[in-house]
Amino acid sequence: MSKKLIIIRPDDWHLHVRDGAVLKDVLAHTTKQFARAVIMPNLKPPVTTVDLAKAYRSRIDTALQQLGVSNFNPLMTLYLTDNTSADEVRKASEHQIIGFKLYPAGATTNSDAGVTNIKHAYPALEAMQKHSVPLLIHGEVTESAIDIFDREVVFIDRILEPVRKDFPELRIIFEHITTKQAAHYVRDADTKGKNTLGATITAHHLLMNRNSLFTGGIRPHHYCLPILKREEHRLALMEVATSGNPRFFLGTDSAPHPKGEKESSCGCAGCYTAHNAMGLYAEAFDSVGQLDRLEGFASFFGPDFYSLPRNQDQITLVQQAEEVPFEFTLGDTVLVPLRAGETIAWSLAK
Ligand code: NCD
Ligand code: ZN
Repeated sequence: MSKKLIIIRPDDWHLHVRDGAVLKDVLAHTTKQFARAVIMPNLKPPVTTVDLAKAYRSRIDTALQQLGVSNFNPLMTLYLTDNTSADEVRKASEHQIIGFKLYPAGATTNSDAGVTNIKHAYPALEAMQKHSVPLLIHGEVTESAIDIFDREVVFIDRILEPVRKDFPELRIIFEHITTKQAAHYVRDADTKGKNTLGATITAHHLLMNRNSLFTGGIRPHHYCLPILKREEHRLALMEVATSGNPRFFLGTDSAPHPKGEKESSCGCAGCYTAHNAMGLYAEAFDSVGQLDRLEGFASFFGPDFYSLPRNQDQITLVQQAEEVPFEFTLGDTVLVPLRAGETIAWSLAK
């Protein structure tokens, strides 16, 4: 008999929905599963001010209305720059901005306007600590001399640890962690009993290692940042995600890109998982016999960390293979989802 799992409706604590005509297409997938999502601000130009976030939020709301969705809450972030002022941070804290996102300049898709030197952001970090606004971190250094597989680990020593020392009360989310070192750093950090360090983990980093980039040839749809790592790292992520430790929670980092921009001589970074993210996470947790830990990871630890109420309604996941189409519509183009043309072992009950 196929297994079934009923859990409190989950939230996605790291999501890219882009802008304009594509909003509707990607939100349709996310809103079937999740009640809330932290919306990444790496648009072109980036969402750097409260006013820009409000305008973005209203475009998202319009798309939700067009979809007939009334039970989904986008949680807006601002993009931290070298010039983010303490005043903008104060304003953010008064307008339900969930946090500021640190992209080291050049680290990933649309990060050119990111922080060039963490010291430049110190006045903003000071204000975030004061107003209790969380810092969401893309944790990779950007120096081309550092091997791409080592950039997250180097970031911990060079940036994360000093920032935590300098701002001990700042609430930090180390997003989409990909290494054993990051998993253990977050697990073992002494936060003096305070809720100051959490991490999100994607479904694709729980399910794939770096071999998936090259299975039978180069696989552009498995290329994301931070890049997939060795199997030992995947295993460490699985261990902490399924451990019941509330510092680790769900963030898909589902990142839609047009098919042509992935299948290109210089393909961009990002995996699209929103079509059945919960099925992918269930598959991962089930693979180690830890399905009963999925609800905490997906539905409890995120809101607890952000001091938001947990959701009250439920979703039902069933162990029923779902075929993934080769493509989904993305505005006037298409995207290729993770597992395109294959199956995901779990799905949302219809
Ligand atoms: C993200 C995107 O496409 O915006 N890409 C990715 O590979 N994860 C940006 C990001 O979160 O790094
Ligand atoms: Zn992302």
